[in-house]
Amino acid sequence: MLSWDDPIAAIKGEGQKEPAVRPGMGFQENEALMSTAGAAPSVSPDPENAGQPLAEPNEDALTGTGLEDIEMGAERIRVDDKKIINCHADLNQLVPFKYKWAWQKYLDGCANHWMPQEINMNADIALWKDPNGLTEDERTIVKRNLGFFSTADSLVANNLVLAVYRHITNPECRQYLLRQAFEEALHTHAYQYCVESLGLDEGEIFNMYREVPSVATKAEWALPFTKHLADPNFRTGTPEADQKLLRELIAFYVVFEGIFFYVGFVQILSMGRRNKMTGVAEQFQYILRDESMHMNFGIDVINQIKLENPHLWTEDFKNEMRTLISDAVELEAQYARDTMPRGVLGMNAQMFEEYLHFIANRRCAQIGLAELYPGADNPFPWMSEVLDLKKEKNFFETRVTEYQTGGALSWD
Ligand SMILES: [Fe+2]
Ligand SMILES: [Fe+2]
Repeated sequence: MLSWDDPIAAIKGEGQKEPAVRPGMGFQENEALMSTAGAAPSVSPDPENAGQPLAEPNEDALTGTGLEDIEMGAERIRVDDKKIINCHADLNQLVPFKYKWAWQKYLDGCANHWMPQEINMNADIALWKDPNGLTEDERTIVKRNLGFFSTADSLVANNLVLAVYRHITNPECRQYLLRQAFEEALHTHAYQYCVESLGLDEGEIFNMYREVPSVATKAEWALPFTKHLADPNFRTGTPEADQKLLRELIAFYVVFEGIFFYVGFVQILSMGRRNKMTGVAEQFQYILRDESMHMNFGIDVINQIKLENPHLWTEDFKNEMRTLISDAVELEAQYARDTMPRGVLGMNAQMFEEYLHFIANRRCAQIGLAELYPGADNPFPWMSEVLDLKKEKNFFETRVTEYQTGGALSWD
């Protein structure tokens, strides 16, 4: 019998091992795993490599990419040779694993596979067509969020493959980045599927990030943070360049995916909780599950870079990152005000401000920064339940939230 969880062990008759993180594990538990990145690496750094000069910016353009010429007869790779950035060991060899958390997230991401077309949109279509089905404020929320996310996820995907990937010099992390990039494609697909199902004007939705200021501002904020890494001449290997990488990882993983997505998630999931637009809400719930893992992966990477390069994490840099996060909170609060000028669905913009303070505190703690808003509370405690991805029916009771794909074949 082949088993999804551990086919090799099953074939060997060793039984199935429980992975360290089960897909659908609670957010707190995922965060507990995340904290392993902050712990000492499983293998201590190779003293032989200590003090070696870092790559000069003008070195051969293929150095550290995995596309260098093969060095015949070179020594085999040891775990100690691996580094999360500025690694010159062969990047085409996945094993031996050094960052097991990255490999585990890759496995978890694969086990959480879903496709937008699997979700039934019939109730949403009927509700949207019914002139009395939704209020104008509710329709605004649906359209603005489809407008923001449909382009934001493409921006994240482009940042991953054109900017981040090249500079993360570790094969198991790259394996997860490839999975994440595909998930971002699925997210853009999901938004397009919602737009198509509801018969919305695609020109209006997909151009919101050029035409609606509150949507445009967030994408505009993020764009400068991908420019350095995407520059073909940019190389890591100096403290200044490595700080640029760290800054841009924090901007995308902690702010863009970890703060800018959350007003929209709460708004759409609130509709689902009130039995409105349940198909769209279900798409968003799957996306939120993926995004939560993306963010936790990014935080692990950030903490691992800090651990291996403590000289980058200066007081000045920490202060700069706190300011970056508080500026982002203000932008996202503005998005909440613009998308819900009046109270709607039992929520108002003030509650969102409190929520953003609460999650910003958590993001700060996750990367080792002091809290920005001491005492902030969570006005939407049900969001934690959504993030606790348990193996039970989701809150819309339409299907099992955690499932595995048709790839989980079994021959008895
Ligand atoms: Fe996404
Ligand atoms: Fe993402």
